[in-house]
Formats: sequence, C-alpha cells, structure tokens
Amino acid sequence: MKVVLGVAGGIAAYKACSLLRLLSEAGHDVTVVPTASALHFVGEATWSALSGKPVHTDVWSDITEVPHVRIGQEADLVVVAPATADLLARAATGQADDLLTNVLLTARCPVVMAPAMHTEMWEHPATQANVATLSERGVHVVPPASGRLTGQDSGPGRLPEPEDLFAICQRELSHPGASPTSHAGARASGAAGGVSADASLKSRGDLEGRRVVVSAGGTREPLDPVRYLGNRSSGKQGYALAAVAVQRGADVTLVTTSGLPVPPGATAVHVETALEMQAAVREAAASADVVVMAAAVADFRPAQVAAHKIKKTHGPDADGAADDSAPTVALVRNPDILAGLVAERGGASAPVLVGFAAETGDGTGSVLEHGRAKLARKGCDVLVVNEVGAGVTFGKDENTVHVLRRGSEQVLDVGPATKTTVAGAVWDVVSDLL
Ligand code: C5P
Repeated sequence: MKVVLGVAGGIAAYKACSLLRLLSEAGHDVTVVPTASALHFVGEATWSALSGKPVHTDVWSDITEVPHVRIGQEADLVVVAPATADLLARAATGQADDLLTNVLLTARCPVVMAPAMHTEMWEHPATQANVATLSERGVHVVPPASGRLTGQDSGPGRLPEPEDLFAICQRELSHPGASPTSHAGARASGAAGGVSADASLKSRGDLEGRRVVVSAGGTREPLDPVRYLGNRSSGKQGYALAAVAVQRGADVTLVTTSGLPVPPGATAVHVETALEMQAAVREAAASADVVVMAAAVADFRPAQVAAHKIKKTHGPDADGAADDSAPTVALVRNPDILAGLVAERGGASAPVLVGFAAETGDGTGSVLEHGRAKLARKGCDVLVVNEVGAGVTFGKDENTVHVLRRGSEQVLDVGPATKTTVAGAVWDVVSDLL
C-alpha cells in the first residue's frame, strides 16, 4: 500500500523514524513528507535513507511531476506523526503553504493525525477547536498519550508509541474508517483552556456509546494511619485500557489507587482499599456495559486498623518493662470484587466481565493451564493472563498476555508489546462480545 508519512516540526519527530521502519517492514511503499521545521529535528538525509526516496518539503521540487497533487491522490493512507499545533491549525483551515498541507488537501484516503505538543498547547481552545474540525471531516485524530514531555513537565501531549501508531495505520488500511477515531465535538472549558473530562474526547470508535469501568492499581490495606499492606502493581495496564477505551469512543470510569495522570477523557474515582474499590466498582457497574478488573486487589486486609501509629515498643507490661516484641498482624479475607460481579449478574450477559490474572508456570501446570482453570473458577467472560516473574510486567511499559474467552478454545497471544497494544487487543475481544 502507498503510505504518506507526514512529519511536523516537533521533538517527537524522532519517533516517526521507528514508525517509518515498521511501515516499510510491513511492505508498504512509504513517502515521507516532512515540514521544513521537522528537518530541524530529524534531517533530510535520515528520511531519504530510511525511506529510500528523495524527500521534499515544498511544492517547487520536481515541479514537472506535480508531486503536491500526485502524492496525495495516489496515497492509500496519510499519517501525520507528530502533528504539531501549527500543523493542525493549517490543516483545519485548509492552508496549502507547503508540500504536506498540499498532500492533505489532495488526499481522498484515510488520514490519521497524531498530535504531540506541550499540554498547555494541546488543551488550548484553539487547538481543541482545530481537532474538532478535523475530526468532523473524518480525520482520525489519535489522542496524545500522557506522561513525561520534553522538559520537566508531564501531562497529555506525548506522541503515542510507534508500535501503537503502526497498529492504528494497519487497521485504517484494512478497514478504512472503522478503527477507533478522533475527537468529534471536542470542547475546551475555562479561561485557561482546561479540557473537561467527559466532553473533550468523544469519538466515533467501536466502543461509542458504551459505558466501561476499568479498575487499576494495587489496593492499599492500612495497618495504622501510616502503614499499609500493598503490592507492586503500577496501574499502567489499567490506565492504558482506559485511554484506549476513550479513543474508541467509550464513556470510561477509572476506579484507581494509582497517582498516574488520568487519561484525558476518562472520569477517575480514586480509592485506596479493596472495600473502597468494591463500593466504587459496584456503583459504576450498575449502569456499565463492560467492567475490566485490571486492579491487583489484596486478598487479605489487617483485621484491625490501629487508630494511632503502632509503636516499636508497646508500653510497659505488667512488670513495668517496655514490650519490644514484634506485634502479630491478624488478617481477614477481602471480598473478591470480580466474583461478586459475576454472582450479581446471575445469568444475564451484561455487563461483560473481564478479569486479569498474573500467573507463573510451575510443576502443576503452565501459565495457560492455570489461566484456563482460573477462567472457569471465576466465571468471567474474558481472562487476560499475564506472565509474571522477576522483573516482568510490574511497573514496566511492556506486557505479554494470553487472552482467553469463556466457552472458546481459542487463545489470543499478545506481546511482548506495549501496554497500549495489549489494551487494544483486549478491547478487540470485548468489542466482538458486545
Ligand atoms: O484470583 P486472582 O486474584 O488471581 O484474580 C485476579 C482477578 O480478580 C483480577 O481481575 C482482579 O482484579 C480480581 N480480583 C478481585 N477481587 C479480589 C482479588 C482479585 O476482583 N479480592
């Protein structure tokens, strides 16, 4: 397929090199069209060498070939990554002052734009209005990821990982217009241009109109006002699930123990303990189409929570001596939130219930065998089994999973892949069930 890779002038231009490689390795004929300012970040020689073609930024080169018309007309897909605030503005107003904007005006194929910029620029009403205009015209605008930006700042504005953009491009090429889309009706609120959680990222994806609940992070079970029993879950996989669901049009409630930045467009409910998580998940699940339990919920909690910090020494005993023996912590079982949802749903098919299971293979069975047994035991519809072990999964950006469906022998193996790619695969399976 003929793919045009437009690159605007942002620091994330370097990531477009990886996207170019992925597209070329998949057999596509890629023409790179950078803007003049993109060449400040990655030079012409790099683009020419990686694509094996000459690279132009203006309409005056090879004028007899009329490339500004031909490149756009012949393309099967145009992807702009990164799309800067300036490029979005020029595209939204139909300007044609360089080769890339000319290509965008002549292309009749699917167009994907992946904005990347500082959070303030992304949230500014002008940028949001341009994104809304482009979305309404059918451009697939991929919401930026949240996280560390160029300087010390962090927030929404990062270019998604090249593998994730590649997956979106492949989906657009195989099902034009069907993949998760953009920000129709994007709106910014407030003088500073803050974006309201529920209105800013409505899209026309396959989860449009669906209410989904995602739990994320590890619960913290207090021992006293200072200490808790916890686990190593970072919440990253749950956040990726929430972000991708927003991109695909869902109305997302994220019940979380994590302090990670909330994906733009999701509504977060912050909780700490398993009991708090259960209450929040149950409330949101009452009107949900899907509940994904990605959280690592503690199976036990301390039977008693001390009102004051437990001291190293426990005060004088009967003989008047301080007791410095270690206290014993009694534990009680936490409810299994997922099992509770399965029971409450009874025989109904809604909401679709998705569980996660961290497994290691051992003498009694493989990761998959343990996963199948757990799926049967839990009674949920989908079980995402991830392999855990030393240094694997927890806190990392990559994951390797096997997605199992109740009543099906088929297994979807995903990864090692970014947690965003894993999230996309999980929503593909859920979308099928819906
Ligand atoms: O049985 P196991 O803890 O491995 O099951 C994991 C799945 O069950 C996850 O989806 C997790 O969110 C959920 N779970 C739960 N309540 C618990 C423990 C786990 O909902 N108390």
